[in-house]
Amino acid sequence: MHEKETPIVSETLPVTRRDVLRSIWVGLGGLAALELGMVTLAYMQPRLAEGEFGNQITVGAVEDFPPGSVTHIPNGRFYLVRLDDGGFVALYQRCTHLGCNVPWDQAAQRFICPCHSSQFTLDGEVENPPAPRPLDVFLVTIQDGQIVVDTRQPIKRQEFDPSQVAYA
Ligand code: FES
Repeated sequence: MHEKETPIVSETLPVTRRDVLRSIWVGLGGLAALELGMVTLAYMQPRLAEGEFGNQITVGAVEDFPPGSVTHIPNGRFYLVRLDDGGFVALYQRCTHLGCNVPWDQAAQRFICPCHSSQFTLDGEVENPPAPRPLDVFLVTIQDGQIVVDTRQPIKRQEFDPSQVAYA
């Protein structure tokens, strides 16, 4: 006895113009959402452009900075100090008292904070409180005659130490 075979019926529904348009709109919506997400993500990333504060900054050639000089590097928020012995120190411009920017006073040969008059020597040590400690420093390296300052992490210190100085 033969069983009666059931025919396989293919049920393909006709694709309407409305279905096609809906698919296109869904696709475009997905692309727009993806793009919005990427723009938002890019906006939320910290601004770490090369050569800006928060990154490594190539300041210039060793011979561009005479001994005994102080050079403000505004985009790096630090002063590059070349000590009389030729060594380099990068001092964070932020006062260790309450965080004001500390300008270099060329006439006084000191950093003098405009907020509460703390004073710092050429190498950043406290000469006059209320600042509780020396200006923070950034790591300085000299690569192929170029001075590179790493502003990713200020280094706190309690006093000046020769290990904070970079030599060519
Ligand atoms: S913030 Fe510089 S002395 Fe107070």
